[in-house]
Amino acid sequence: MILPVFAFGQKVLKKKAEEIDKEYPKLEDLIKNMWDTMYNASGVGLAAPQIGLGIRIFIIDTLQMEDEEKEEKSGFKKVFINAQMLEEEGDIWNYEEGCLSIPHIRGDVERNKKIKIKYLDENWEEHIEEYEGINARVIQHEYDHIEGILFTEKLKPLKRKLIKKKLEKIKAGKVDADYRMKFAT
Ligand code: NI
Repeated sequence: MILPVFAFGQKVLKKKAEEIDKEYPKLEDLIKNMWDTMYNASGVGLAAPQIGLGIRIFIIDTLQMEDEEKEEKSGFKKVFINAQMLEEEGDIWNYEEGCLSIPHIRGDVERNKKIKIKYLDENWEEHIEEYEGINARVIQHEYDHIEGILFTEKLKPLKRKLIKKKLEKIKAGKVDADYRMKFAT
């Protein structure tokens, strides 16, 4: 089931999300709905706060970003539950990010190239894994969501100033997205 994406301005996007346990109701359905919602909006990642839930779950599919011609696959499709970032290191690099909760705004964000992260998968198996490059980048963006941080907060001051009005418009629901959204007002 496709769910509405919570837009910039919704308080849930600014809250640090809570861990869940195995008793969390209908988790399987929730994860399926998150995949449906993400693919419907042509996203590569989606975090639970973006569908209005303040819990530590995010999903990512970077396989979609791969060149089909390329034989070696480096992307992944995974569910991250109760993730904890263990390390962020390596060179700082810039990459233009966007977010399903903030349509039509993109901007360069500086992040470390490498990460180490601990999380549970949808079968409650624990993993500690290292990622780098674009895979790390997408995880960092989604991880920020469960910490209540949006990429627009990490833009350079001048860029932040330039998008201020656009953000106000999104908050007020004055934006056209290709998918259903839920606005604060
Ligand atoms: Ni996002």
